[in-house]
Amino acid sequence: MSAAIEVRALSKRFGSVTALEDATLSVEYGRVAGFLGPNGAGKSTLMRTLLGLVRPDSGEAHIAGRAYAQLSAPAETVGAVLDIASAHPRMTARAHLHTYAALAGMDRSRVGAVLSLVAAQSYADRRIGTFSTGMRQRLALATAMLGDPGILVLDEPSNGLDPSGMAWLRTFLRDFADAGGAVLLSSHVLHEIEHTIDDVILIDRGHTVWTGALDQLVAQHAPLEEAFLRLTQKESLS
Ligand SMILES: Nc1ncnc2c1ncn2[C@@H]1O[C@H](COP(=O)(O)OP(=O)(O)O)[C@@H](O)[C@H]1O
Ligand SMILES: [Mg+2]
Repeated sequence: MSAAIEVRALSKRFGSVTALEDATLSVEYGRVAGFLGPNGAGKSTLMRTLLGLVRPDSGEAHIAGRAYAQLSAPAETVGAVLDIASAHPRMTARAHLHTYAALAGMDRSRVGAVLSLVAAQSYADRRIGTFSTGMRQRLALATAMLGDPGILVLDEPSNGLDPSGMAWLRTFLRDFADAGGAVLLSSHVLHEIEHTIDDVILIDRGHTVWTGALDQLVAQHAPLEEAFLRLTQKESLS
């Protein structure tokens, strides 16, 4: 089987800013890949390109073997959490999920299923405007899981999570990958996701500077925090 996510020589400029330059990575089924790099490195741009929201200047970005626009059942193939600010504050979580399920032509019964999947039943009928960041993150993940996808693309989902929320997310992603799913998970804070990931993709100023298994990176560059700093922002250190 081919990789769940395959990005080859992806480049994207916004005016004079080079967001991605020759970025190349892949994520296999059954793995949680940490997509790490400092702010502005190009993580969100690459994820948005994968999901067909940004048109690249050159290169390829494939999910389940195809460009996003070519997927016959996108919501059943990939779930994404890119921007958790998009939910309407006066809606309840359950109403938000019903709207998304209806838009994607999914069965309403998925709403109850995803609410329990992310353990959000206790606040499902509260307005989103009253939610903590952690609750919003879980609602965003529930929305991504509506189509029961095999691939997840999560942009900084650990932002704003407290330690128990982080532990919960870790278990959730481990179970998802152990069931055969593939996860691309970005963060600019290495230690937040260090215990969650199998593989590491390091990106710096649009370049993918290191890819491979986390234990290989640790073996080559222990301690990890130093590797992260050494492999990214090289110029600022020298
Ligand atoms: N729509 C856009 N218009 C102009 N510049 C952008 C746009 N999106 C991203 N950029 C720029 O591209 C670079 C990479 O941004 P981004 O992908 O958001 O990085 P990261 O998610 O790693 O913090 C940054 O310099 C950012 O300012
Ligand atoms: Mg970003």
